Amino acid sequence: MITNTELEYKGNLYPTRILSFKKEVDKLFFFTENDVILELTVIRDRVLRFRYATEGVFEPDFSYALAKEASRGYNHLDVEEADEEYIVKTGKLEIRILKENLRVRVFDLEGNLINEDELGFHWEENYEYGGNIVKMSKGVREAESFYGLGDKATHLNLKGKRLHNWGTDQYAFGKDQDPLYKSVPFYVGLNHKTAYGVFFDNTFKTHFDFCQERRNVASFWADGGEMNYYFFYGPSVAEVVTSYTDLTGKPELPPLWALGFHQCKWSYYPESKVKEISGKFRELQVPCDAIYLDIDYMEGFRCFTWNKEYFSDPKRMVKELKEDGFKTVVIIDPGIKVDKDYWVYQEAKDKDYFCKRADGPYMRGKVWPGECNFPDFTHPDVREWWAGLYKELIGDIGVKGVWNDMNEPAVMEVPTKTFPLDVRHDYDGHPCSHRKAHNVYGMQMARATYEGVKRFAYPKRPFIITRSAYSGAQRYTSSWTGDNVATWEHLWIANIQVQRMCMSGMSFTGSDIGGFAEQPTGELFARWIQLGVFHPFCRVHSSGDHGDQEPWSFGEEVLNITRKFIEMRYQLLPYIYTMFWRYINDGIPMLKPLVYYDQEDNQTHYRTDEFIFGEKILVCPILEPNAKGRRMYIPRGEWYNYWTDEVVSGGKEHWVSADIDKIPLFIKKGAIIPKYPIQQYVGEKEIKELSLDVYYKKGKEQSAVYEDGQDGYDYKKGRYSLRTFKLTGRKNELILQQHKEGKYTTSYEKIKLCLHGLPFKVSKIEFDNEEVAFEKVKLNGDNSMIIDKDFTELHIIGE
Ligand code: GLC
Repeated sequence: MITNTELEYKGNLYPTRILSFKKEVDKLFFFTENDVILELTVIRDRVLRFRYATEGVFEPDFSYALAKEASRGYNHLDVEEADEEYIVKTGKLEIRILKENLRVRVFDLEGNLINEDELGFHWEENYEYGGNIVKMSKGVREAESFYGLGDKATHLNLKGKRLHNWGTDQYAFGKDQDPLYKSVPFYVGLNHKTAYGVFFDNTFKTHFDFCQERRNVASFWADGGEMNYYFFYGPSVAEVVTSYTDLTGKPELPPLWALGFHQCKWSYYPESKVKEISGKFRELQVPCDAIYLDIDYMEGFRCFTWNKEYFSDPKRMVKELKEDGFKTVVIIDPGIKVDKDYWVYQEAKDKDYFCKRADGPYMRGKVWPGECNFPDFTHPDVREWWAGLYKELIGDIGVKGVWNDMNEPAVMEVPTKTFPLDVRHDYDGHPCSHRKAHNVYGMQMARATYEGVKRFAYPKRPFIITRSAYSGAQRYTSSWTGDNVATWEHLWIANIQVQRMCMSGMSFTGSDIGGFAEQPTGELFARWIQLGVFHPFCRVHSSGDHGDQEPWSFGEEVLNITRKFIEMRYQLLPYIYTMFWRYINDGIPMLKPLVYYDQEDNQTHYRTDEFIFGEKILVCPILEPNAKGRRMYIPRGEWYNYWTDEVVSGGKEHWVSADIDKIPLFIKKGAIIPKYPIQQYVGEKEIKELSLDVYYKKGKEQSAVYEDGQDGYDYKKGRYSLRTFKLTGRKNELILQQHKEGKYTTSYEKIKLCLHGLPFKVSKIEFDNEEVAFEKVKLNGDNSMIIDKDFTELHIIGE
């Protein structure tokens, strides 16, 4: 251990004594003897920013991660100077900064320590590149756990791991392989009852160590740039995750069809093949909303071109697919083929939009089209140009979504799999090398794509999907987890990755269902579909080199199982849309790992398989072959087995049966689950009736259904419908109170209530305090009834 006053120890440099202090509105500056400055900004009462300069000056303040709309403002801020430390108080926190060495401790207002610097900020000069390797180390307490960090394919709880962020094209990655495609330098720390979060907003290669190197220390560092991190106080995990998501932004609502089922393969071509696939979906009545064209639709993999031999008239094809209820989504990669007869290449060259090496030549690298140059998406003019390129594809041809791939950026046949580090980038007017821009390259590409698709799809909503991402990318795009493999282990990985992405502000994510590389057995495919329909993004994709991966590729039984689960997803669309709406409004993740759901229960801290889908549905995939069920942890509370309506008590492990046509699925007691009729695609039918599955509970529970025009922006002008239901169950009575909000008129007039677990026989029904005859409410034998959609209070009274 170093002594506090040493300036240098084992090659690291440390801040020395604080000499002076200054306050400027929401910013506090602490200056040390050796020219270190700590700038502490109070963003909100429970959100702080810590930033350190080592030579008395900060870099220009710029971040791609932060959302313009992020909430700011605090109720309280004062600073007190004591003998040994400065004490900063906000409405929620007390921050103590030691004069001797600038180390920080954060307490809640009751004086409980939440998090403290161990060595705190220190750095090492970077002799190769200049600047510093900036470091931070924090003390860790007994039983502290760690979550977050984007797409890491490792145990959900990161304790004991060391991980790195450097976007990498990892074809057929394995469990624990790191880094992968995305860089989300955000984690949640959970100590007993208190959660906090750290977002290290540094786009250089970043590193995190959660008690791997030293038992009681968590540390993070970057190869360059500034020590610049945000600290979020919970005490709930939920508060931390939603605060992070507020800071880095939320998306807009996607079009509802984007939440349907998507079918993809590398590649469907020519047109007749595309039509064969789309036709088969309709023939076999497997619902599907989107079909994807992978790289072979292009002319020699040139972006924004079509291979006219395979697709003689794309506009007509896209229109015909549309008439059949399919949206067309196409892939666009960043590499632009070096070809003087190719207009995109020529334009970019003329405008000087390609990335260059430090000494001037263009950055050249091989990708699918062969030798390519790469637009510098960190330049605003380049993004604007790129957005404009979508005019024909979206505006004229009618493509509805764009899939951005290879944007880590990936380069083939080089050991680093990416650009050389000396490549220059504009970084929105802060010129830098690839060391700094690498991790945001994919995000800026997706951002430019989003701008373009949004512009030309207007008044409809855009749909974008990306492989690479940095914090904040969720404002522009959905994502998938990259090139996984058709193995049981990868089913486990997919489950973890999507939960982790949800904890990292990027809920709209899914895996390649069935596995991208290699070929799943029918059983694995069925089990993957059963999980995939409970992921925010739901798409089958495969590399196509080992055979087909459509719902009908594995025989009748698997087809039937696949159809059953995709149908279930379509029935649950209003439920899924409502969880999306909560995500865009409040940053609430669409899936919640059990630790998010119930952090007070220590049993949840190391669970990986079970998760809460939305607010009320508990899901746990079957991850092994030949299973008839599995053991799983059911969180505290009471739950209905979805398949049997049997009620189980949580807080312990249970054996749950789930033969090949089932997945363990539980509904929270008291929940009201909204459902639509099965459709083959969104908008196929006018919705004539909303079903509400009501799961009786003795006590109270609230549920909601959000609906709107399913596309377009009217919802932003108040044209949405939000129904909030309050359920109160008593021994002999069930009361449902409805509150309605918003100016949108739903197409249905009736609501069908399906009552589950009612402990009494219905003898009387009252609507808004008036008794109604049974015939009027059409009480069916199966405890369902059809009622007028706009009731305010419904009493169901037992004998
Ligand atoms: C990459 C993508 C994959 C795509 C393939 C061809 O491997 O991750 O999804 O199918 O490239 O474009």
